[in-house]
Amino acid sequence: MALRTLDTLPSRLGRSLAGTRIVVRCDLNVPLRDGVITDDGRVRASLPTLNALINQGARVVVCSHLGRPAGAPDPQYSLEPVAQRLSELLGQPVAFARDTVGESARDAVAALADGDVAVIENLRFEAGETSKDDAVRQQFARSLAGLGDALVSDGFGVVHRKQASVYDLAELVPSVAGLLIEKEVEVLDRLTEKPERPYAVVLGGSKVSDKLGVIEHLLPRVDTLLVGGGMMFTFLAAQGHKVGKSLLEADQLDTVRGYLAQAREKGIRIVLPVDAVMAASFSADADHVVAAADALEDTPFGADGMGLDIGPRTAEQFAEAIRASTTVFWNGPMGVFEMPAFAAGTKTVAQALTEVSGLSVVGGGDSAAAVRQLGFADEAFGHISTGGGASLEFLEGKKLPGLEVLGWEQ
Ligand code: 3PG
Repeated sequence: MALRTLDTLPSRLGRSLAGTRIVVRCDLNVPLRDGVITDDGRVRASLPTLNALINQGARVVVCSHLGRPAGAPDPQYSLEPVAQRLSELLGQPVAFARDTVGESARDAVAALADGDVAVIENLRFEAGETSKDDAVRQQFARSLAGLGDALVSDGFGVVHRKQASVYDLAELVPSVAGLLIEKEVEVLDRLTEKPERPYAVVLGGSKVSDKLGVIEHLLPRVDTLLVGGGMMFTFLAAQGHKVGKSLLEADQLDTVRGYLAQAREKGIRIVLPVDAVMAASFSADADHVVAAADALEDTPFGADGMGLDIGPRTAEQFAEAIRASTTVFWNGPMGVFEMPAFAAGTKTVAQALTEVSGLSVVGGGDSAAAVRQLGFADEAFGHISTGGGASLEFLEGKKLPGLEVLGWEQ
C-alpha cells in the first residue's frame, strides 16, 4: 500500500482545510548550544508542509520532541527557541504554549485564526509520549487528539520510533504524511529498490557495528562500496594491516571478512583506503603525517599513532569513484571533520557528491552536520536526509512504525 499523502487530506476529511485544526508532527530536534540553534536544517525542512497548510487556511498546531528529557519538563529542552526560529522562517508570528497538552496548549489552539501557527512544548515532557506501555501511550495520544481534527505526520527523523505522536495518534484521527516524509520516502526508496547504475555507497563514521544492517542490506544492491571514517580501520585490520591506536572493533573482524568475501564472490567493488592521516593523539593540534594503509605504524608515532582521516590519495580515489557513479548515498564522515586538520577527506568526498550528475543523497545526522559545517549549501546535493537513525533503518529494510501507520509498506 502507498503512503497516504497531504493532497488527499481534504477528501479524507470531507471538507477543505480552511478553519480545520491540524496537528503537524515535525522533527524539530535541532542541536542547541547555550539556547542557540547551531543547525536549523530540520526547521527549514518542515517549512513546505507548514506553508502548504497555512496557504489553505488551516489552523496549524506544531508538535515535536527535542532531545531526550526524562518524561517531565526540563527547561534546557524547551522548544521555545525553535518556535522563535520557525516564526522567523515562516515570516509570521508563531504562538508558543508552555505545556504540551495542558491549559496553555488548549488556550493557544483555541486562539488560532485561519492560517495561524502555534507550537506546543516538547512532547517528551510527557512520559506518555515514549512509554513502552501501549495503554499509557494511547492515553497521551488521546490528549493530543483533543488539539486537532487531523494529523499531518512529517517528522521523518522519528518514524522509526513507536511513540504516541508518531504512531498512536495516527491511528486515532485522520492522518496523512507531510511533504517532507513523502520526499524522504521517495528518495530513500529509489536507493533501495531502483537505483540508477552505477550505484556507489560511501560509508564512514566511527563504528562498523552501527552500520552492519545497512551494509548487509545494501551490499548486494550496489556496484561500489567505499569505506572511510573510523570504521575503515576494522576493514584494514581484517586485511591483516596494523592500525596502531586507531578505532578498531575486534569483535567485528570476522563479520567484515565475511563482507569482503561476499563482495569478491559477487563482483561488488569494495574500495578501502590506501592511505590515512595518522596523528600523535586525538586533538585538533596533534602532530600528524600521511601513512600508507599497509604501513600505518611506520610513522614517528609508531604503534601509538591513531588514524583521524582518510589520506589524500584515498580521498582522490573516492572522489573519482563517486563522480563516475549515477547514484550515490553517503553516510558518515571520513574523519574527525570537526578538527580542521582532519577534515580534508570529508570535504573532498562532499565536493565530489556535489558533482554527481544523477542522484546524490547525504544521510542525516553527522554527515548532514559535516556538509553544512564545511560550508556546502544544501542545494548542492540531490537530497540531505533529515533522518539519522530513521534513514539508516529505512535503508536496512526495517519496518518503520511511523511509516506503516501512514499506509507505507516496505
Ligand atoms: C534524531 O535526532 O535522530 C531524531 O530526532 C530521533 O531522536 P531520538 O533518537 O532521540 O528518538
